[in-house]
Amino acid sequence: MQVFNNYSKYGLLAKLFHWATFIALLVQVPFGFYLVGLEFSDQRIELENVHILVGITIFYITLTRLIWKFFNPSPTENKSFFKGQVLIGKANHILLYLCIFAITISGILKKLYMGENLNFIFFKYGFEKDNFVLADAYYEVHIYANYLLLALVALHVFAVIIHHFIFKDKILNKIT
Ligand code: HEM
Ligand code: HEM
Repeated sequence: MQVFNNYSKYGLLAKLFHWATFIALLVQVPFGFYLVGLEFSDQRIELENVHILVGITIFYITLTRLIWKFFNPSPTENKSFFKGQVLIGKANHILLYLCIFAITISGILKKLYMGENLNFIFFKYGFEKDNFVLADAYYEVHIYANYLLLALVALHVFAVIIHHFIFKDKILNKIT
């Protein structure tokens, strides 16, 4: 299996990034919604720390993925079945990346503006001061960006199903 992307297929690394992010998000989104419903306790604090650690890992994976994509561009072969199709696909991909950054960065900023010290895995960092108004605002972004992510992923998967069953162009072979 080739490591680099080529004209028609994603390489091993791009595939790993895609499916690792998919699995991490599959766990992280329901986990986030579950977390907000919990009563305050030591166990809740521990679970929130796991949520933060997984979230920061997703942030690093997405950053590394985009750096890799810069040096090794995605396959350019695109069969078009209607006008604007390639553009819609590209817009969907760009918005997915932006959404993951909006979620992770807003989560980070919420905690930092709460005046907490955050574990960024390689280092620890905290603002010296808190600002609860900004913390609340970033938390709103965190929530709405999660809803947007769900909508974009639904569209993404819907497109894959249409490609597979209607256009019959075996699009899944590109990334599996
Ligand atoms: C959390 C869920 C998912 C996210 C965030 C996501 C994100 C992405 C992104 C950003 C790309 C573009 C990669 C690039 O070229 O830079 C992509 C491509 C792709 N994804 Fe997903 N994906 C998700 C789930 C899925 C699922 C469940 C499937 C299959 C049913 C799938 C199938 C594909 C395919 C076939 C491509 C290649 C599309 C093409 O090059 O035309 N994805 N995905
Ligand atoms: C892609 C990664 C992430 C996803 C998908 C995600 C998802 C979620 C979701 C769905 C919620 C529940 C929102 C609500 O309905 O109120 C939530 C809550 C939360 N998230 Fe995230 N999150 C991610 C990353 C992060 C990061 C990196 C941080 C902080 C560094 C963070 C901090 C929080 C906090 C503090 C809460 C509120 C928990 C509480 O106190 O009730 N999240 N997250």
